[in-house]
Order: sequence, then C-alpha cells, then structure tokens
Amino acid sequence: MDGVTVIDHPLVQHKLTLMRKKETSTASFRRLLREISTLLCYEVTRELDLTTMRIETPMEEMDAPILEGKKLVFASILRAGNGLLEGMLDLVPAARVAHIGLYRDHETLQPVEYYFKAPEDLGNRLIIVVDPMLATANSASAAMTKLKERGARNIRFLCLLAAPEGIERFRAAHPDIPIFTASIDARLNEKGYIVPGLGDAGDRMYGTK
Ligand code: PRP
Ligand code: URA
Repeated sequence: MDGVTVIDHPLVQHKLTLMRKKETSTASFRRLLREISTLLCYEVTRELDLTTMRIETPMEEMDAPILEGKKLVFASILRAGNGLLEGMLDLVPAARVAHIGLYRDHETLQPVEYYFKAPEDLGNRLIIVVDPMLATANSASAAMTKLKERGARNIRFLCLLAAPEGIERFRAAHPDIPIFTASIDARLNEKGYIVPGLGDAGDRMYGTK
C-alpha cells in the first residue's frame, strides 16, 4: 500500500500477539507496549540522514557518523500515545516531545481536543507522531492538521494497529505523511473499533475498564 510500511519483524509480531490476547494483564500490556515501541522506533528512524563528526578514538582520529540536523520531535497523542513514547525515548533520549491531548467522542467518533504543547521550531525538525491505534483516523488527522498549523512540514506517523478504512482516510487527508504500523487489521466494527484489534488501547494500558 502506497505510503504505508508494515513492520513485520518477528519480535514485533510476537509481542503484538501477546498484547492482543484478552487475558493479558495491564502490567504485561504496558511492558509489552514499551518493548515493542523500541523496535518500532528502530524501524521508523531507519532512513534518518547521517553526517560525520571528527572524533579521536584511543587509537587515532576518524570521521564518525552522527545524526544530521536538529533533534527529533516525538509527538504523543494522549493518552495511549504515551505507551509508545516511553520506549522511543529509551532509544532517543535527546528527542524533544510534543503532547497532543485528544479523545474521541464515543457517540460521534469525532476527536475532542483538550491539550496541545509542542516545541516552538517544528518547521526545522522531523516529527514522529505516535498513537497505538489508527481506527477512523479522525484523531490522527486532527493531530496532523494541528502540527501543520504550527509549522510542521516533515512528519511521520507511527502506530501499532491500523484499520484499512483509517489508512485510506488518513492518506487522503495527509498524503505527504507516511504511516508505519505493525499490522493492518481486517476492518472497523460498527462502533469504530479495530477488529480483530486489541480493544481500547488506553483502557488496557491504564486499567481504566
Ligand atoms: C484511541 C487511540 C486513538 C484513537 C483512534 O484514543 O489511542 O487516539 O482512539 O481512533 P480514531 O482513529 O477513530 O480517531 P481514545 O480516544 O480512546 O483516547 P485515550 O488514548 O485517552 O484512551
Ligand atoms: N481506539 C482504540 O483504543 N481501539 C480501537 O480499536 C479503536 C480506537
């Protein structure tokens, strides 16, 4: 599918299966999400540009590779995005962080915004937006629109599960933003949940249901 990368690494797929199981506890779900996010982070940052810096090893001088450009921004769509954010920060501790507070109204499935805080200079940075679930894509699309209004030009979206309907809507609204996901599931149900899915990601992470 154009603009969509499915991260099919065996460890990702194994951990995702454990997360999907309904008997998986809150503690295990949270731990697995943190573990999986480091693997997903590895893949979503695979194409980052490198430059070199002159360093001195104990043996001699060399031009050694380092990341080019300004620090990355990880943007978490609250609250479930924070489950992916933590593992990403384990791998890229110097990344800047944006928080986008959105929840989807259970009746209308429209996103309701309650918080937004991001670094000032979004225009010069790569922004990786994280949220475990891309269902209708209403939340992710609204988050991207908000980031673009604040000057963001170079954005990637990372999720755990995506519905085909959500991918289609997201790509229509934001064709410039590539999607990285561990799975494209079968469909959305009548309540806008991904099936087979894993249920409500926020509730499973925080034990709120
Ligand atoms: C979930 C999920 C996404 C959104 C996906 O969040 O984390 O943000 O739903 O659905 P959509 O693609 O149809 O918009 P939720 O609204 O349940 O909020 P929470 O993270 O606070 O639990
Ligand atoms: N949000 C979730 O947490 N799960 C879904 O399946 C859809 C939206």
